[in-house]
This record gives sequence, structure tokens and C-alpha cells, in this order.
Amino acid sequence: MANEDLLKKIIAHAKEYGFVFPSSELYDGLAAVYDYGQNGVELKRNIVDYWWKSMVQYHENIVGIDTAIFMHPTIWKASGHVDAFNDPMIDNKDSKKRYRADVLVEEHMAKIEDKVQKEVEKAAARFGDSFDEAMYRTTNPRVMGYLQQIEEIRGRLYPAMEANDLEGIKALIEELGITCPLSGSKNWTEVRQFNLMFSTQMGSTAEGANTIYLRPETAQGIFVNYLNVQKTGRMKLPFGIAQVGKAFRNEIVARQFIFRMREFEQMEMQYFIQPGTEREWFEYWKQQRIQWHKGLGIPEENYRFHDHEKLAHYANAATDIEFRFPMGFKELEGIHSRTDFDLGAHQEFSGKKIAYFDPDTNESYVPYVIETSIGLDRTFLAVLSHAYAEEQLEDGSERVVLRIPPFLAPYKVAVLPLTKKDGLPEKGREIMDRLKRQFMCYYEEKDTIGKRYRRQDAIGTPYCITIDHQTLQDNTVTLRERDTMTQERVPVEAIAGKIAAKL
Ligand code: GAP
Repeated sequence: MANEDLLKKIIAHAKEYGFVFPSSELYDGLAAVYDYGQNGVELKRNIVDYWWKSMVQYHENIVGIDTAIFMHPTIWKASGHVDAFNDPMIDNKDSKKRYRADVLVEEHMAKIEDKVQKEVEKAAARFGDSFDEAMYRTTNPRVMGYLQQIEEIRGRLYPAMEANDLEGIKALIEELGITCPLSGSKNWTEVRQFNLMFSTQMGSTAEGANTIYLRPETAQGIFVNYLNVQKTGRMKLPFGIAQVGKAFRNEIVARQFIFRMREFEQMEMQYFIQPGTEREWFEYWKQQRIQWHKGLGIPEENYRFHDHEKLAHYANAATDIEFRFPMGFKELEGIHSRTDFDLGAHQEFSGKKIAYFDPDTNESYVPYVIETSIGLDRTFLAVLSHAYAEEQLEDGSERVVLRIPPFLAPYKVAVLPLTKKDGLPEKGREIMDRLKRQFMCYYEEKDTIGKRYRRQDAIGTPYCITIDHQTLQDNTVTLRERDTMTQERVPVEAIAGKIAAKL
């Protein structure tokens, strides 16, 4: 299936089956804002739970926190967001469409990279087993030409971004002949900086109002509570603080469904360490986090690391874990070595000492930080897009099934009496009551059993229990498994154990 088709199908499926709705749909929607429906909210909660368990419950030295979205405005001055949380934007005068200028150039580089990849694939097919890709890339004149072009563009884009040289970025767009994907024209405005923070007023009157920001990351809530948690929790370095919560960004390019939203959720953890140990902890968290992703049961080849060339204003090393979304490999999680930038800045702006007294070395210092920051909505999209499958069945029919890992599935089991009479619903209710304290259960009597199975497949329910006339005689049910569609006869007392084993 073409990738764009897959994304469209996932969006339609997510809406039809109560996972994700466009926000304010009744009023024709609000760009890049989405609501989670009855099934989506369960999947989302299960992802959070998996993250929280692995970060907080399984690490004795990591604790959780839940901080306010509104914070003192000086926090965003200290963090650098007021001055530096900008994206360079450019408008096409013909289509009136706004783009991120750096993304336009990066997409141009990606097209050249695609040409390299095509040359490599052709050569691999030609030379067979004896093909040496590394040698080919460094000797084939055409490939070397492409790679050199990429290097030259990179060598201009990132320094220009670093130096805030907006004219330089505009010149690059013009020289590369980049056109607007919509109008096809090169009729561009100047490049301008655009701050991504949303602001609002706090205070009862406009005159007395104070401009405050909706947090663009949850991390700062952790930093400004570092001392509170360290002291009240008597925490010793290294230790971490984790938080799950909403963040807001006025994204210029907000598209691709829940991949880039203006209101989204992050799951972040700041790990406070002794200065000088950041390399080793950075590597440690890279490994920990990739293991977590593998625990989702998605094959490894769908993930890759991408080290940053342009570092955010707070970082001295950074890598992304990228996932193969339907629209290609894109950032899912960031791991950043933030040094003492944030705590140091809050110390300076607040005028209050933020230091750690190390009992092992008898020294006092501002801790360094390794951050892991993952988007909850992007994880949701990763799980959904990997789970979505259209299958042709042996009897010639088709089904859409969400192969969501059972521990994340919105419902674990559906309880389905075969008919609405002969005491089957009563028996079904009895089984439902027995199971629902342990698992999210779905009860349904309406429609043929085949239709009900399809509906459960479409929302990813790993098990269906069918209650039939035999159940009334020997207290056994049919347990149907989602992926294999196999059915087995199981005593009612054994159901919970079977399901729990799978989770
Ligand atoms: N505290 C560091 C930080 O916020 P980031 O790379 O800007 O770093 C972290 O964001 C993660 O948040 C990203 O890897 C992504 O998964 C998610 N994220 C960022 N912007 C997003 C958006 N507009 N919509 C959905 N998720 C987003």
C-alpha cells in the first residue's frame, strides 16, 4: 500500500472506530488539534502506563511529578524559549502557504539522498553478493557528486540557522530553485523568525494583565521543582524526575494527523547527574529507551537513531529515535544532554541558589541533566500505524485488524452471547462481571457473531469469548484469538488465567 494511502486509511479508521476525532468537528475543526475518542483514550492511557512503569516503577531513583501548565513568565526567559524557540518561516506569495524554511531545504536534501539510494540499489542488484556499498559510495562519480551537493547544502544551512542568518537561508532556497509544492512557483517572501509559544493573559483586567505562556515542553516544570523534589525526597545523584503532560506549540507546518499538533502530550524524564558523567549517562539512556521501544513488539528495523547536527540552545549532545511512520522515518523521541543549562539559568534568573551537595566528594555543584522526551501522540501513531492490517481471508472475505500488542489494546476481551435468548445474555453478564474487575471488557449482543468479531478485530481486542448453548451445559466458552482467529473451548474458570498470560 502506498504510504500516503496508508496514512489516509489510518486517519479514517481512527475516526470510524472511536480512536481519534478532529477537534471541534461540529464547527469544521481546528487545524492540528485532535480529540481522543472512547478507544483512543484507553490506548493512550495504556501507553502512558507502560512508560510510567518502566521509568518510575522500575527505577528506584526516578520519581514522578505533575506540574502546572501555567508558569511564571520569567521561566521561559530563563529557559531561552522567549528568545530562541523560533522557527524560520517563509510564505509562498502565490499559494499563500506558509512553510518552515529549514524544512524546505531539508526536504530538498532528502530528494538528493533518494537519488543516492536509487543508484545504490541499482548497483547492488547489478553486482549481487560482491557489492560493497561503502566502497561504491566513495568511488562512483555520480553518487559522489550527489553526496557532495548534500554536504555543501548542509554546510550552509546549519551555520546559517545557528547564526540566525535569515537572508542566507532565503538565498539558499533561491539558489537551489526550491518551488512551492502547491503552486510550483518560486515567488517567496523573506524568511522571518516565528516564536512557537502560545501566550495568554493572566489577571482580571487587561491593564493589570501579565502575559504568560502555555508551556511548550513539560521539562521546565521539572527543572523549577528540582530543589523541592531533591530535598523532600532526600534524593541522591544520579536521580530522575518524570512527568507526563500537555505541551503547546504554534507549529508553522502542522500536518500529518497527530504527528505534529498544536496541543500535544509529552512523557519526559530529566536525569540529574554529576558533571563530567554526561557521556556515559547519555549512552545509558539511549540504550534504555530503544529497549523500551522494542518492548512494544514492533520490529527493530522500524527504528533508528539520528544524531543532531543542529543542537537546540540547551544541549551539548542530542539524538532522536526515529520511527518509520507511514510518511517515512521521523522523530519519535529525543534524548538530550542538557548540561547545567536549565538549572544554571533558573539559578541566575531567580537569584536563588540551586546546587547539590555531594556527600561523596564534599563538593557543591549544579547538576548536569540527561533528558528523555517522547511524544505520547507520536507513540500512539506509531503503534496504530504498525498495528493496522488489511487481510484477505481464506473464505474470500476481508478484514481490517489492529494488531495492537495485547497489553496496550483498549479492550482485552469481548464477551459475546451467541443469541439474545435462552439465558445466554444472563450467562454472558455473569462472565462479564467476573472479568471486568481485572480487564477492560466489552459486552455485545447485537448482530451476527461474525460481524461482532470483525468489529473487535477493528479495535484490536485480543480475545473474544462466545457464550453458546453448550456453555449452559458444561460451563465452557469459545475463546477466539484476534491474530490467528483460532478458537478453543475453555472452561469459564480458566479464561482469566489465559488472558492474563497473554498480557
Ligand atoms: N523537552 C525537550 C523537548 O521538548 P522536543 O524534541 O522539542 O524536545 C520532544 O520534543 C518530543 O515531543 C518529540 O520527540 C515529539 O515526539 C514530541 N513533539 C514535539 N512537538 C510535537 C508536536 N507539535 N506534535 C506532537 N508531538 C510533538
